[in-house]
Amino acid sequence: MPDISTTYLGLKLKSPIIVGSSGLTDKPDKIVLLEKFGAGAVVLKSIFEEEILMEYDHIVSEEATGRYKDDYLDYFDYRIKQSNIENYLELIIQARKAVKIPVIASINCSTAHEWTYFAKKIQEAGADALELNIFILPSVLARSAENIEQTYLEIIRTVRNEIKIPLSVKMSYYFSNLAGMIAELSHCNIAGLVLFNRSYSPDIDIDKLEVTSANVFSTARDLPVSLRWIAIMANRVKCDLAASTGVHDGKAVIKQLLAGANAVQVVSALYEHGPEYLEIMLKVLNDWMSGKNYGKIDEFRGLLSQDRQVNPALFERVQFMKYFSDRDKKNA
Ligand SMILES: Cc1cc2nc3c(=O)[nH]c(=O)nc-3n(C[C@H](O)[C@H](O)[C@H](O)COP(=O)(O)O)c2cc1C
Repeated sequence: MPDISTTYLGLKLKSPIIVGSSGLTDKPDKIVLLEKFGAGAVVLKSIFEEEILMEYDHIVSEEATGRYKDDYLDYFDYRIKQSNIENYLELIIQARKAVKIPVIASINCSTAHEWTYFAKKIQEAGADALELNIFILPSVLARSAENIEQTYLEIIRTVRNEIKIPLSVKMSYYFSNLAGMIAELSHCNIAGLVLFNRSYSPDIDIDKLEVTSANVFSTARDLPVSLRWIAIMANRVKCDLAASTGVHDGKAVIKQLLAGANAVQVVSALYEHGPEYLEIMLKVLNDWMSGKNYGKIDEFRGLLSQDRQVNPALFERVQFMKYFSDRDKKNA
C-alpha cells in the first residue's frame, strides 16, 4: 500500500484530504466519523464575526422596544459574545479529546478589530492550528484595492501576535493582481493558504421577483479555478497550499496534488455523499498511486505545476480563440 500521508501547516496528516469548515465539522461525533473514514484533518465550522454582530443586532432591536434601557446593551453584547465563544471553545476541547487527527479552528472575519483576542483562547483550548477565512467583497466604490489588501495584512499581523500555533488563511480570488497578493500573504509568517473560499452568492427568482440564495454547494465544474492557481503558485510561495472548491472525487484530489497542493479540502462532495465517501476518494488515490508505482505523495506532488511545465502558458491561457477556431473547422 502506498503511503498517502502528507504534511500541512507543519502537521502530519495521515491522508491529504481535509474536511473543510462547514456544518460537517460542528460536532465532535461527526468529526469522529470523518476520522474513521480517513480524513487527514478537519477545519471546524467557523465562528463568524458577522454572526456575532447579527445576533447582537437581533437582541438589541427586540429589547429596544421597551423593557430595557441602553445601559444594558453593553451587557447583552458581552453575554452574547461570551456564549458564542464558550460554545466554540467547548467544541475545540471536545473535538480534540475525541480524535487523533489535527483539529483546525476557523474564524470568519473582515476586520482586525475586537475579535482578535479570541485567537489566543482558541490556542488555549487546544486547537492544532487556526484558519482565518478573510473575505472582503470589493464592492465599495470608495474603497481602494490597496486599502483592502492592507486590511488582510493587518488582520494577519494582529492575529499572528496573539498565537504561536500555525496560522492559515482561506482567501477568495477577488484580487486584481492575484498572484502578487497570494505571494505577499505567504510572506506574512503564515503556515498555509487555502485557495479558494466559496462564498455565499445571490440568485434571482424570476417568478416571485425576489433575490434568493444561489446553490451553496459547489460542483465538479468549479475545480479548474483552484487547480489553475495551485499550479501557478506552487513553489512560488513561502507557505503550504491547500486546494479548495470543486473537489468532488478522488481524481480531483490527485489533480490538485499533481498541481502542487500540500493538502486538499472537501466539503460539498461530503454533504452530497456522506462521510463514507472519503474512503472511496482515498481508494482512488491509493489505486492510482499503486498503478503508477508511487510510494509517497512527495514523489508526484507538483509534477504538473506551472514551474515544471515545458509550456507554462498552458496554465495561463484565458481566451477560447483556439478552442472555437478548431471546433468551427471541424463543424465546417
Ligand atoms: C453548507 C456550507 C457551510 C459552510 N460553512 C463554512 C464556514 O463556516 N466557514 C468557512 O470558512 N467556510 C464554510 N464553507 C465553505 C467551505 O469550507 C468550502 O470552502 C467551500 O464549500 C468550497 O469547497 P467545496 O467545493 O468542497 O464545497 C461552507 C460551505 C458549505 C457548503
